[in-house]
Amino acid sequence: MPNITYINGKYLNYEDSKIHVNDRGYHFGDAVYEVIVFNKNIFYDFDGHIQRLFKSLKSLEIKFSLSSSSLKIIINNLIRLNKAIIGSVYIQVSRGVAERNHSFHGLNIEPILTIILTKKSNIQNDLNGVKAITLNDNRWSRPDIKTTQLLPNVLAKTLANKNNAYESIFIDNEGYVTEGSSSNIWVLNKENQLITRNLDGKILSGITRNSISLFAKKNNITVVEKKFTQIELYNAKEVFLTSASSFIMPIVKIDDQNINQGLVGNISLELRKLYFDNFKHS
Ligand code: PDD
Repeated sequence: MPNITYINGKYLNYEDSKIHVNDRGYHFGDAVYEVIVFNKNIFYDFDGHIQRLFKSLKSLEIKFSLSSSSLKIIINNLIRLNKAIIGSVYIQVSRGVAERNHSFHGLNIEPILTIILTKKSNIQNDLNGVKAITLNDNRWSRPDIKTTQLLPNVLAKTLANKNNAYESIFIDNEGYVTEGSSSNIWVLNKENQLITRNLDGKILSGITRNSISLFAKKNNITVVEKKFTQIELYNAKEVFLTSASSFIMPIVKIDDQNINQGLVGNISLELRKLYFDNFKHS
Protein backbone atom coordinates (compact mmCIF):
# COMPACT_ATOMS: atom_id res chain seq x y z
CA MET A 1 0.00 0.00 0.00
CA PRO A 2 1.32 3.48 -0.78
CA ASN A 3 1.74 5.94 2.08
CA ILE A 4 1.39 9.26 0.31
CA THR A 5 -0.69 10.10 -2.74
CA TYR A 6 -1.18 13.32 -4.65
CA ILE A 7 -4.52 15.00 -5.34
CA ASN A 8 -4.67 18.45 -6.94
CA GLY A 9 -1.81 20.22 -5.20
CA LYS A 10 -1.83 18.15 -1.99
CA TYR A 11 0.35 15.30 -0.81
CA LEU A 12 -1.93 13.23 1.38
CA ASN A 13 -1.82 10.18 3.61
CA TYR A 14 -3.49 7.23 1.99
CA GLU A 15 -6.49 7.41 4.40
CA ASP A 16 -7.04 11.10 3.60
CA SER A 17 -6.85 10.62 -0.17
CA LYS A 18 -10.51 11.07 -1.00
CA ILE A 19 -12.31 11.96 -4.21
CA HIS A 20 -15.59 13.87 -4.33
CA VAL A 21 -18.72 11.77 -4.82
CA ASN A 22 -19.62 13.90 -7.86
CA ASP A 23 -16.32 13.35 -9.63
CA ARG A 24 -17.14 12.70 -13.29
CA GLY A 25 -14.48 10.00 -13.39
CA TYR A 26 -16.49 8.11 -10.79
CA HIS A 27 -19.87 8.65 -12.52
CA PHE A 28 -18.98 8.29 -16.17
CA GLY A 29 -15.38 7.08 -16.50
CA ASP A 30 -14.84 10.63 -17.75
CA ALA A 31 -11.11 10.49 -17.07
CA VAL A 32 -7.81 9.53 -18.66
CA TYR A 33 -4.77 7.84 -17.18
CA GLU A 34 -1.19 6.65 -17.57
CA VAL A 35 1.02 4.13 -15.81
CA ILE A 36 4.77 4.79 -15.62
CA VAL A 37 7.30 2.45 -14.04
CA PHE A 38 10.45 3.67 -12.33
CA ASN A 39 13.54 1.88 -11.09
CA LYS A 40 16.04 3.82 -8.98
CA ASN A 41 16.63 6.97 -10.99
CA ILE A 42 15.21 5.61 -14.21
CA PHE A 43 11.75 6.25 -15.61
CA TYR A 44 10.75 3.95 -18.46
CA ASP A 45 9.42 5.99 -21.39
CA PHE A 46 8.45 8.98 -19.23
CA ASP A 47 8.11 11.45 -22.10
CA GLY A 48 6.07 9.08 -24.26
CA HIS A 49 3.57 8.46 -21.48
CA ILE A 50 3.19 12.13 -20.63
CA GLN A 51 2.76 13.05 -24.29
CA ARG A 52 0.03 10.44 -24.64
CA LEU A 53 -1.65 11.78 -21.47
CA PHE A 54 -1.88 15.21 -23.10
CA LYS A 55 -3.18 13.64 -26.31
CA SER A 56 -5.92 11.75 -24.39
CA LEU A 57 -6.86 14.95 -22.53
CA LYS A 58 -7.18 16.76 -25.84
CA SER A 59 -9.34 13.99 -27.34
CA LEU A 60 -11.79 14.38 -24.45
CA GLU A 61 -11.53 18.19 -24.39
CA ILE A 62 -10.36 18.18 -20.76
CA LYS A 63 -8.61 21.47 -20.09
CA PHE A 64 -5.51 20.71 -18.04
CA SER A 65 -2.99 23.40 -17.19
CA LEU A 66 0.02 21.56 -15.70
CA SER A 67 3.10 21.11 -17.86
CA SER A 68 5.08 17.96 -18.38
CA SER A 69 7.93 19.33 -16.22
CA SER A 70 5.52 20.16 -13.36
CA LEU A 71 4.20 16.61 -13.52
CA LYS A 72 7.75 15.29 -13.30
CA ILE A 73 8.44 17.41 -10.20
CA ILE A 74 5.28 16.12 -8.50
CA ILE A 75 6.12 12.51 -9.36
CA ASN A 76 9.68 12.89 -8.06
CA ASN A 77 8.32 14.45 -4.85
CA LEU A 78 5.99 11.52 -4.43
CA ILE A 79 8.81 9.02 -4.92
CA ARG A 80 10.88 10.87 -2.34
CA LEU A 81 8.03 11.19 0.18
CA ASN A 82 7.24 7.50 -0.13
CA LYS A 83 10.94 6.54 0.02
CA ALA A 84 10.28 4.41 -3.02
CA ILE A 85 13.10 2.82 -5.01
CA ILE A 86 11.24 0.68 -7.54
CA GLY A 87 7.59 1.02 -8.43
CA SER A 88 4.99 2.60 -10.64
CA VAL A 89 2.90 5.72 -10.66
CA TYR A 90 -0.71 5.75 -11.76
CA ILE A 91 -1.62 9.19 -13.07
CA GLN A 92 -5.29 9.98 -13.56
CA VAL A 93 -6.96 13.18 -14.69
CA SER A 94 -10.74 13.33 -14.44
CA ARG A 95 -12.79 16.10 -15.96
CA GLY A 96 -13.66 17.28 -12.46
CA VAL A 97 -16.57 17.60 -10.05
CA ALA A 98 -20.05 18.55 -11.22
CA GLU A 99 -23.66 17.61 -10.55
CA ARG A 100 -24.43 14.45 -12.45
CA ASN A 101 -25.34 15.33 -16.02
CA HIS A 102 -24.05 13.43 -19.06
CA SER A 103 -23.12 16.49 -21.12
CA PHE A 104 -20.05 18.55 -20.27
CA HIS A 105 -21.02 21.29 -22.69
CA GLY A 106 -20.46 24.69 -21.02
CA LEU A 107 -19.05 23.15 -17.84
CA ASN A 108 -16.25 25.21 -16.37
CA ILE A 109 -14.66 22.94 -13.80
CA GLU A 110 -11.15 22.16 -12.64
CA PRO A 111 -9.79 18.74 -13.63
CA ILE A 112 -8.78 16.43 -10.77
CA LEU A 113 -5.23 15.11 -10.98
CA THR A 114 -4.58 12.03 -8.86
CA ILE A 115 -1.22 10.29 -8.65
CA ILE A 116 -0.94 7.01 -6.79
CA LEU A 117 2.41 5.33 -6.22
CA THR A 118 2.83 1.59 -5.88
CA LYS A 119 6.10 0.22 -4.54
CA LYS A 120 7.59 -2.92 -6.03
CA SER A 121 10.49 -5.01 -4.79
CA ASN A 122 11.59 -5.96 -8.29
CA ILE A 123 10.60 -5.12 -11.83
CA GLN A 124 11.75 -8.40 -13.36
CA ASN A 125 8.70 -10.51 -14.01
CA ASP A 126 8.63 -14.27 -14.11
CA LEU A 127 10.21 -15.12 -17.42
CA ASN A 128 8.94 -18.63 -17.97
CA GLY A 129 6.34 -17.15 -20.25
CA VAL A 130 2.64 -16.81 -19.56
CA LYS A 131 -0.69 -18.15 -20.79
CA ALA A 132 -3.33 -16.13 -22.60
CA ILE A 133 -6.89 -16.72 -23.73
CA THR A 134 -8.78 -15.15 -26.63
CA LEU A 135 -12.21 -13.57 -26.64
CA ASN A 136 -14.38 -11.26 -28.73
CA ASP A 137 -13.46 -7.59 -28.63
CA ASN A 138 -16.60 -6.03 -27.19
CA ARG A 139 -15.16 -2.63 -26.24
CA TRP A 140 -16.32 0.79 -27.38
CA SER A 141 -15.11 2.07 -30.73
CA ARG A 142 -12.43 4.43 -29.30
CA PRO A 143 -9.93 2.13 -27.57
CA ASP A 144 -7.23 4.40 -28.99
CA ILE A 145 -7.95 6.90 -26.18
CA LYS A 146 -6.55 5.86 -22.80
CA THR A 147 -9.64 6.43 -20.66
CA THR A 148 -10.57 4.87 -17.32
CA GLN A 149 -13.70 3.42 -18.92
CA LEU A 150 -12.35 -0.13 -18.74
CA LEU A 151 -15.19 -2.48 -17.81
CA PRO A 152 -14.80 -4.82 -20.84
CA ASN A 153 -11.05 -4.93 -20.12
CA VAL A 154 -11.73 -5.65 -16.45
CA LEU A 155 -14.09 -8.52 -17.33
CA ALA A 156 -11.64 -9.87 -19.90
CA LYS A 157 -8.70 -9.84 -17.47
CA THR A 158 -10.83 -11.48 -14.80
CA LEU A 159 -11.84 -14.23 -17.22
CA ALA A 160 -8.15 -14.77 -18.04
CA ASN A 161 -7.26 -15.05 -14.37
CA LYS A 162 -10.17 -17.45 -13.73
CA ASN A 163 -8.60 -19.62 -16.44
CA ASN A 164 -5.15 -19.38 -14.85
CA ALA A 165 -4.03 -17.09 -17.66
CA TYR A 166 -2.14 -13.81 -17.49
CA GLU A 167 -3.86 -11.96 -20.30
CA SER A 168 -6.94 -11.95 -22.52
CA ILE A 169 -6.41 -11.21 -26.20
CA PHE A 170 -9.26 -9.46 -27.99
CA ILE A 171 -10.31 -10.68 -31.47
CA ASP A 172 -12.37 -8.39 -33.71
CA ASN A 173 -15.47 -9.44 -35.68
CA GLU A 174 -13.38 -10.38 -38.72
CA GLY A 175 -11.08 -12.73 -36.78
CA TYR A 176 -8.16 -10.31 -36.45
CA VAL A 177 -6.30 -9.74 -33.20
CA THR A 178 -6.74 -6.25 -31.78
CA GLU A 179 -4.80 -6.14 -28.48
CA GLY A 180 -4.69 -7.51 -24.95
CA SER A 181 -6.97 -6.31 -22.14
CA SER A 182 -4.05 -4.18 -20.90
CA SER A 183 -1.31 -4.74 -23.46
CA ASN A 184 -0.35 -4.76 -27.13
CA ILE A 185 0.22 -8.11 -28.84
CA TRP A 186 3.07 -9.13 -31.14
CA VAL A 187 3.80 -12.24 -33.21
CA LEU A 188 6.96 -13.47 -34.88
CA ASN A 189 5.98 -15.38 -38.02
CA LYS A 190 7.81 -18.21 -39.78
CA GLU A 191 9.52 -15.64 -42.06
CA ASN A 192 10.93 -13.93 -38.95
CA GLN A 193 8.79 -10.86 -39.41
CA LEU A 194 7.74 -9.24 -36.17
CA ILE A 195 4.12 -8.21 -36.60
CA THR A 196 1.93 -5.97 -34.48
CA ARG A 197 -1.41 -4.43 -35.44
CA ASN A 198 -1.21 -1.06 -37.16
CA LEU A 199 -2.71 1.99 -35.47
CA ASP A 200 -6.12 1.83 -37.12
CA GLY A 201 -8.05 3.23 -34.16
CA LYS A 202 -8.86 -0.26 -32.82
CA ILE A 203 -5.92 -0.43 -30.41
CA LEU A 204 -4.08 1.83 -28.02
CA SER A 205 -0.88 3.30 -29.39
CA GLY A 206 1.24 1.62 -26.70
CA ILE A 207 4.29 3.53 -25.56
CA THR A 208 6.20 0.28 -24.94
CA ARG A 209 5.02 -0.91 -28.38
CA ASN A 210 6.50 2.19 -29.93
CA SER A 211 9.87 1.78 -28.17
CA ILE A 212 10.08 -1.92 -29.02
CA SER A 213 9.36 -1.18 -32.64
CA LEU A 214 12.25 1.32 -32.72
CA PHE A 215 14.70 -0.95 -30.89
CA ALA A 216 13.80 -3.95 -33.08
CA LYS A 217 14.34 -1.96 -36.29
CA LYS A 218 17.66 -0.62 -35.02
CA ASN A 219 18.74 -4.21 -34.44
CA ASN A 220 17.80 -5.40 -37.92
CA ILE A 221 14.62 -7.18 -36.90
CA THR A 222 11.92 -6.65 -39.51
CA VAL A 223 8.86 -5.01 -37.99
CA VAL A 224 5.58 -5.01 -39.90
CA GLU A 225 2.59 -3.07 -38.63
CA LYS A 226 -0.49 -4.80 -40.00
CA LYS A 227 -3.53 -6.77 -38.95
CA PHE A 228 -3.00 -10.47 -38.20
CA THR A 229 -5.54 -13.20 -37.57
CA GLN A 230 -6.24 -15.45 -34.61
CA ILE A 231 -4.92 -18.35 -36.76
CA GLU A 232 -1.64 -16.48 -37.35
CA LEU A 233 -1.46 -15.96 -33.61
CA TYR A 234 -1.79 -19.70 -32.92
CA ASN A 235 0.77 -20.55 -35.64
CA ALA A 236 3.36 -17.94 -34.66
CA LYS A 237 6.94 -18.87 -33.81
CA GLU A 238 6.85 -16.48 -30.87
CA VAL A 239 4.17 -14.34 -29.26
CA PHE A 240 4.66 -11.65 -26.64
CA LEU A 241 2.80 -8.73 -25.15
CA THR A 242 4.06 -5.27 -24.32
CA SER A 243 2.88 -2.80 -21.69
CA ALA A 244 4.32 -0.31 -19.22
CA SER A 245 3.93 -2.68 -16.29
CA SER A 246 4.90 -5.97 -17.99
CA PHE A 247 7.51 -4.57 -20.43
CA ILE A 248 7.91 -7.51 -22.85
CA MET A 249 6.22 -10.63 -21.60
CA PRO A 250 6.53 -13.85 -23.66
CA ILE A 251 3.28 -15.79 -24.20
CA VAL A 252 3.83 -19.55 -24.49
CA LYS A 253 0.26 -20.85 -24.56
CA ILE A 254 -2.89 -19.35 -26.09
CA ASP A 255 -6.17 -21.15 -25.39
CA ASP A 256 -5.21 -24.83 -25.92
CA GLN A 257 -2.37 -24.05 -28.32
CA ASN A 258 1.28 -24.16 -27.24
CA ILE A 259 3.46 -21.48 -28.85
CA ASN A 260 7.06 -22.48 -29.64
CA GLN A 261 6.35 -25.82 -27.89
CA GLY A 262 5.57 -23.89 -24.74
CA LEU A 263 9.03 -22.33 -24.54
CA VAL A 264 10.09 -18.69 -24.36
CA GLY A 265 11.55 -17.56 -27.68
CA ASN A 266 14.90 -15.89 -28.31
CA ILE A 267 13.57 -12.79 -30.05
CA SER A 268 11.23 -12.04 -27.13
CA LEU A 269 14.17 -12.28 -24.74
CA GLU A 270 16.45 -10.22 -26.98
CA LEU A 271 13.88 -7.44 -27.24
CA ARG A 272 13.30 -7.46 -23.53
CA LYS A 273 17.02 -7.01 -22.98
CA LEU A 274 17.22 -4.25 -25.60
CA TYR A 275 14.39 -2.43 -23.84
CA PHE A 276 16.09 -2.48 -20.43
CA ASP A 277 19.52 -1.69 -21.87
CA ASN A 278 18.16 1.39 -23.59
CA PHE A 279 17.02 2.96 -20.32
CA LYS A 280 20.01 1.85 -18.23
CA HIS A 281 21.88 5.09 -18.58
CA SER A 282 19.03 7.57 -18.98
N1 PDD B 1 -2.15 -0.71 -19.88
N2 PDD B 1 -3.48 -1.67 -24.69
C1 PDD B 1 -4.25 -1.48 -23.59
C2 PDD B 1 -5.72 -1.72 -23.68
C3 PDD B 1 -3.65 -1.07 -22.39
O1 PDD B 1 -4.41 -0.87 -21.30
C4 PDD B 1 -2.24 -0.89 -22.33
C5 PDD B 1 -1.54 -0.43 -21.08
C6 PDD B 1 -1.49 -1.11 -23.50
C7 PDD B 1 0.00 -0.91 -23.54
O2 PDD B 1 0.33 0.45 -23.49
P1 PDD B 1 1.69 0.98 -22.82
O3 PDD B 1 2.79 0.22 -23.46
O4 PDD B 1 1.69 2.39 -23.18
O5 PDD B 1 1.59 0.71 -21.34
C8 PDD B 1 -2.15 -1.48 -24.66
C9 PDD B 1 -1.64 -0.17 -18.65
C10 PDD B 1 -0.28 -0.65 -18.30
C11 PDD B 1 -2.67 -0.38 -17.56
O6 PDD B 1 -3.85 -0.23 -17.86
O7 PDD B 1 -2.29 -0.64 -16.41
